[in-house]
Amino acid sequence: MFFILVASTVVVLAASVWAVRRATKPLGMFGEAAERLGRDVNAPPLVGSGPLEVERAAHAFNRMQEQVQRMIRDRTQMLGAISHDLRTPLTRLRLRAELIEDEEQQRKTIADLEEMQAMIAAALGFARDEAVVEQAAPLDLAALLQTICDEAADAGADVIYDGPEHARCIGRPTTLKRALADLVENAVRYGDRARVTLAIEPTRLRISVDDDGPGMPAAELERVFQPFYRLESSRSRATGGVGLGLALVRAAIDAHGGQVELTNRPGGGLRAMVLLPLSIGAAS
Ligand SMILES: Nc1ncnc2c1ncn2[C@@H]1O[C@H](COP(=O)(O)OP(=O)(O)OP(=O)(O)O)[C@@H](O)[C@H]1O
Ligand SMILES: [Mg+2]
Repeated sequence: MFFILVASTVVVLAASVWAVRRATKPLGMFGEAAERLGRDVNAPPLVGSGPLEVERAAHAFNRMQEQVQRMIRDRTQMLGAISHDLRTPLTRLRLRAELIEDEEQQRKTIADLEEMQAMIAAALGFARDEAVVEQAAPLDLAALLQTICDEAADAGADVIYDGPEHARCIGRPTTLKRALADLVENAVRYGDRARVTLAIEPTRLRISVDDDGPGMPAAELERVFQPFYRLESSRSRATGGVGLGLALVRAAIDAHGGQVELTNRPGGGLRAMVLLPLSIGAAS
């Protein structure tokens, strides 16, 4: 009697575990698909098989992905079109500015127009880049960082690399090079020098770009990732950029399933830290 009771309890338990697993398996699939979509909006659509409800949910998920793709495409096209169309009237204004007699007014007007032209060129570049998705490939991140540092040093900047000679991972080489070079450029431009360190961790690579500049108020550390956002102190700088660098860095690192954040270093200066999974899609 006792034996029958134990046996039936075991059977009921096993059946319950099997039923719960079967019922919750699609949830895991949706979770993974949502993560994939966050990293790459052009990820392949979900193939839902099983109960009717799961198939319906997969269908709805794929429709949502298509809508997001269309929205991004439309927005990028609009950004490109507006920027492109603004170029002609701006060129006309630039010619008219040459006729302004007051020298001071003329200099200021031309400077403003040049700033607008630079922003438009950057917006067009941004729109073009978003349309192209580079293929991921095996690469040596240590070698890539050393090249960035050597190129910056050749241009006269105070930049050093401190880390292993090789660090293999999977990524989009040109996208990553531009993003990491942007962080080095910021460190040199706003913080006088860049010290780039690389650490290989079990599932990810940790890159830090440190400088000796003024850092920034805590409230700005996240805000500077917004497109065209610049701090007041750098607006007036003749050497300043347009404020797209960090927005592109975040887009590039997000697309690799990584993270990027800025912190003020305890001893002064800013640190840009990037965490990059060893392969796109690996847990970070
Ligand atoms: N290392 C740094 N130290 C202090 N401030 C910084 C640093 N890096 C960025 N900033 C501030 O954040 C703002 C945004 O940086 P971001 O790289 O996005 O744009 P940018 O350098 O102004 O122009 P772009 O990179 O497009 O040429 C900068 O204008 C600057 O005010
Ligand atoms: Mg920049």
